[in-house]
Amino acid sequence: MRFPLFLIASAAICGILQPCLVQPCVAQQFGGAENLAPYVPTPQVLVEKMLEAGHVKAGDVVYDLGSGDGRVVITAAQKFGATAVGVELLPDLCRKAQDRIRALGLQDRVRMVEGSALHVDLSAADVVTMFFTTLSNERLKPNLEKHLKPGARVVSNEFPVRGWKPTEVVRVRSGKMEHTIFVYEAGRLR
Ligand SMILES: C[S@@+](CC[C@H](N)C(=O)[O-])C[C@H]1O[C@@H](n2cnc3c(N)ncnc32)[C@H](O)[C@@H]1O
Repeated sequence: MRFPLFLIASAAICGILQPCLVQPCVAQQFGGAENLAPYVPTPQVLVEKMLEAGHVKAGDVVYDLGSGDGRVVITAAQKFGATAVGVELLPDLCRKAQDRIRALGLQDRVRMVEGSALHVDLSAADVVTMFFTTLSNERLKPNLEKHLKPGARVVSNEFPVRGWKPTEVVRVRSGKMEHTIFVYEAGRLR
């Protein structure tokens, strides 16, 4: 029997990662305390829906926290005319994204930061996208609340930010799966 990739990914994130976050010794297997989620790429159709849900427009500055292979930041620049910054903890993924950005000639509009989303300065962001877990979103909240300017949007794939009131919840059907996108706006979080 074959399982859809997204089902396996969700099981990995929900079933394996969340307990790891409350058991530091197990969390080490996923790269230590800074690691908020394993690498699970977002399907391209959902990447575009997330950027649409965040009302990304030409000239906006988009940060993707945990940017993986760079697909969100690349799409933000290519299809939405944004300037984008990917923040990725794992050096190999960061390099892979940088190679793609260079190959596509997007260096002037997309850059990668190798580091932790928990500490990065987000004050320039008009839109922040992310795909972690509910527990990880909880850990990110102080950094988001510290830096985000009023009106900046936070778009979270699949997992809500507890304690924040979404301005929009978008459901997206892709094949047999239904995905949920949570949208928040700084200044209207509670
Ligand atoms: C579920 S994947 C999402 C990848 C990409 N955003 C996408 O939607 O295709 C989560 C990513 O976050 C990265 N990550 C985990 N903890 C992080 C942290 N503290 N700071 C930055 N990136 C992190 C992982 O290495 C992984 O690439």
